[in-house]
Amino acid sequence: MTIYQRITADHKRHRELLDKIESTEGDSRDRRQCWEAFFYDVKAHAAAEEETLYAKLIATEDGQPDARHSVHEHQELDHIMDELDEMDMSSPGWLQRFKTLKHDYLHHIEEEEEDIFKRARQEIDSAVADKLADNFEQRKDKERELVDKKAEEALEH
Ligand SMILES: [Fe+2]
Ligand SMILES: [Fe+2]
Repeated sequence: MTIYQRITADHKRHRELLDKIESTEGDSRDRRQCWEAFFYDVKAHAAAEEETLYAKLIATEDGQPDARHSVHEHQELDHIMDELDEMDMSSPGWLQRFKTLKHDYLHHIEEEEEDIFKRARQEIDSAVADKLADNFEQRKDKERELVDKKAEEALEH
């Protein structure tokens, strides 16, 4: 499996979760569960991308602008996600803000699948791209542990 297939598999799940969340209502168990799944998986996914694909791409002259652009979008998305995580899910504003996130996130992953991957295929050797898929998996597991740890610490305080 290449890093591109690995990332696309995550995106597929993220698209499904976005649709599911949008179809839920208020502060329901469904919305809470889907949101939590999305929140943690996207955070780990973005961190793993940055430490594998984008770390490689940013080191190339032609790939650097694209990599910077995407990492900047990660920061913006992260900000909206944290905002939503703090908001009251039963407020009408929650779904409205969520729709902005959905729109921006879909734009981000479409750009990755179409433009970034194309650029990366030109810049990164395919043998390296295969190896990156393994690294991605490992980094994602690690990031998930970190996120869980942070959540636990937040609960303790
Ligand atoms: Fe991304
Ligand atoms: Fe992604």
